[in-house]
Amino acid sequence: MSELETRADAHLMRTYPPPAVSFVSGRGSMLFDTAGNAWLDFLCGLAVTSLGHAHPAVTEAVARQAGTLTHTSNLFLTAPAVELAERLARLTGWDDARVFFAQCGATANEAAIKLARRYGKARHPDKVRVVALEGSFHGRTLATLEATGQPAKHGPFAPLAGFVDHVAYDDAEVLRAAVTDATCAVLLEVVQGEGGVRRVPDEVLVAAREACDAHDALLIVDEVQTGIGRTGPWFAFQATPVVPDVITLAKALANGLPIGACVAHGPAAEVFAPGDHATTFGGNPVACAAANAVIDTILADGLLATAEARSRRLVEGLQELVATSPLATGVRGAGLLLGLELAAPVAAEVVAACREQLLVVNAVAADVVRLAPPLTVTRQEIDTALTALAAALEAVAPAVSTPASELPPTPGATRT
Ligand SMILES: Cc1ncc(COP(=O)(O)O)c(C=O)c1O
Repeated sequence: MSELETRADAHLMRTYPPPAVSFVSGRGSMLFDTAGNAWLDFLCGLAVTSLGHAHPAVTEAVARQAGTLTHTSNLFLTAPAVELAERLARLTGWDDARVFFAQCGATANEAAIKLARRYGKARHPDKVRVVALEGSFHGRTLATLEATGQPAKHGPFAPLAGFVDHVAYDDAEVLRAAVTDATCAVLLEVVQGEGGVRRVPDEVLVAAREACDAHDALLIVDEVQTGIGRTGPWFAFQATPVVPDVITLAKALANGLPIGACVAHGPAAEVFAPGDHATTFGGNPVACAAANAVIDTILADGLLATAEARSRRLVEGLQELVATSPLATGVRGAGLLLGLELAAPVAAEVVAACREQLLVVNAVAADVVRLAPPLTVTRQEIDTALTALAAALEAVAPAVSTPASELPPTPGATRT
């Protein structure tokens, strides 16, 4: 154990397994560890640093705002929050959008769930139920944990409040049947990031929209991971046939500064009244200044188009791996949120082998490795990552022909 790891082991709560490496700095797609090694970052701090590390526009905006005003609470107005809300209204195309700022994905979803329950209860006292999808991930607060469709994560904290009904992520008719007059919202991701980079089929999205309309419930799309260009458009729903009532954002919005946003339009935007919901750090001017810089940079540099071209190259390269490695069986996802499917539950081993090549990726299922490079990734960096991945697959492939009983234990697939 390094000296830092020993100190961490003494005083940090053990919510994560011990990290394999500690980083001290980053630039663009690269991370530098305590020994001075340069790593290629195809994880982006869990789909967060989409402009790469230490992007000058974000650094400048943060430094300027930190030297001007860091916090006032939301009892007072500050310009960066208002400007960010205006930008989000423009990007969603919702002229009447209203935004609640939170600190992260879970608190953005918590706000959306509370908003939906307030909306439902205004119509009927029992209209408080939420329909969510199996395999989803919405956060770790009690309400968002309950919405998360991964029962193993519920177990240690049960009993939960019991207001969420989970349905299969790929069955439109089951979803339609689950939505009733007691439903205040359907909450879903367009691509389940933590659930294994799984695309929810369009017919399920359409069924959710129609069922919400039929039962006067809100459609909430969790864009915490997919938003801000990660899957192609600004928001993943923009490449689908549906328009939600509410979206939630976090992760890439401020390129690493903690922020979350719940964006609503139409009647949903008018639900909250003063006193209904609040948080001390919501709309923090430094985080909002960073987010404004992120959006301006993506627009000024045409990064959505660049990322689309990079995605094509990366998918092509991954498909070549599928054609050449017996261990790689498929590619899924969208934009620069991609999953490499494996023939066996050895994603953790492949991730560890990538580490040997100084490539950062992670496992989102026992048999799926996630790749989420920055939108600014270069063609050359993609080629380097593909070479590293090919070497990792080659290193792990022989173990797959070994009987499972002789394989080393698989560590937890995801650290989110
Ligand atoms: C789709 C989605 N929603 C919510 C969250 C929770 O976000 P946070 O960890 O910022 O609370 C995550 C985190 O991975 C996520 O992927």
